[in-house]
Amino acid sequence: MGFCSCFGREGEQKGTSGLNLPQARVVSVVESRQHYSVNGGHEPGTNGENKTQFPIRTFSYYELAAATTFFKEDLFLGKGGFGCVHKGWLDNGQVVAIKQLDRNGLQGNREFLVEVLMLSLLHHEHLINLIGYCTDSDHWMLVYEYMPLGSLEDHLHDLPPDKAPLDWKTRMKILAGAAKGLQYLHDKINPPVIFRDCKPSNILLGEGYFPKLSDFGLAKLGPVGDKTHVSTRVMGTRGYCAPEYAATGKLTVKSDIYSFGVVILELVTGRRGYDEKRPKYEQEVVDWARPMLKDHKKLSKEMADPALKKQFPRRGLFQALAIAAMCLQEEAAKRPKIHEVMTALSCLASQSEVSNDYYGGPSTPKSLQKQPMVDCYNQQDSSRTDQGWR
Ligand SMILES: Nc1ncnc2c1ncn2[C@@H]1O[C@H](COP(=O)(O)OP(=O)(O)O)[C@@H](O)[C@H]1O
Ligand SMILES: [Mg+2]
Repeated sequence: MGFCSCFGREGEQKGTSGLNLPQARVVSVVESRQHYSVNGGHEPGTNGENKTQFPIRTFSYYELAAATTFFKEDLFLGKGGFGCVHKGWLDNGQVVAIKQLDRNGLQGNREFLVEVLMLSLLHHEHLINLIGYCTDSDHWMLVYEYMPLGSLEDHLHDLPPDKAPLDWKTRMKILAGAAKGLQYLHDKINPPVIFRDCKPSNILLGEGYFPKLSDFGLAKLGPVGDKTHVSTRVMGTRGYCAPEYAATGKLTVKSDIYSFGVVILELVTGRRGYDEKRPKYEQEVVDWARPMLKDHKKLSKEMADPALKKQFPRRGLFQALAIAAMCLQEEAAKRPKIHEVMTALSCLASQSEVSNDYYGGPSTPKSLQKQPMVDCYNQQDSSRTDQGWR
């Protein structure tokens, strides 16, 4: 995980960066689940909330070593700030991804505990399933359902020649699904959960590019009662972090909306949220895009990811950019709520599905039409030729 170099480790205390926390602590964190409520205390089971919740299992080191043939190299899936991830098979035949906590990694015990706590409480079809964990002496590991298509980031940048780029329709569907996961965190959980690390590498893909949010180690409970924000040390990833949060440490659900806006921009333009290989003024995709997002006359189809090879509905492109622009507004209060973003993206995804002729499709949800960025694409000249649709 690429944490901002200016960002510190939150709440990390000297002496806790090793693996010396007692197992009882993990258990007590998991047991605190009764303090949360989903849907104001009602039983989950609607709107994609997973009804069947299996208890989180504990594994021994040897069970997980056996599952991965002692972490065989050819079962290696990737490495993030937490440590290495391997594919494995449990004794019941279930395919899993096993993430080992790296002693020297950027993340540590605190994130491990928060991940276990959050994922034992949160269950939704667009959130990764945690199957269990291991805290045997030095071997701390997390066991997840296996996501066969890897992370969204794996499908966006530095593609090997034999890998086809994602098409427009798939991109919109992934965004709509990820927004549903965020909506569950913001609107269905009380108090809301702020994800805090929304970016393509934390959106994993199942069969048919079905997206699931992953990596809840930085997640935070949102403000309760009269509080407007929670104060925290600034954590997150450069390029995705909301400006007011980076400047003040005041965290709200609107910080997630900003990060999600960066993800939309990344999928539409094919530029990384932060790319140090680019010239300084355009290392952050938001800095590069802002002048165009602020002035609709500067919006152009040239902003689209060249890997799309011009295969996108022109008006759909402007709509997606307009949604991104609203999420990226500097004033947090002006950013839309996640259900509005989700509705708009679902609309785009379904329009892409039903028709090649985008112009005849349903209009943008009313809640978003109020925003100036949407008005601007409604005024685009629809007589210009469309780029066609695969
Ligand atoms: N549940 C999973 N199923 C399949 N692959 C996974 C899973 N979790 C992680 N991976 C792979 O391992 C890589 C590293 O994951 P992670 O440790 O979460 O780091 P990061 O989020 O920084 O990419 C991911 O990019 C992905 O390719
Ligand atoms: Mg991840």
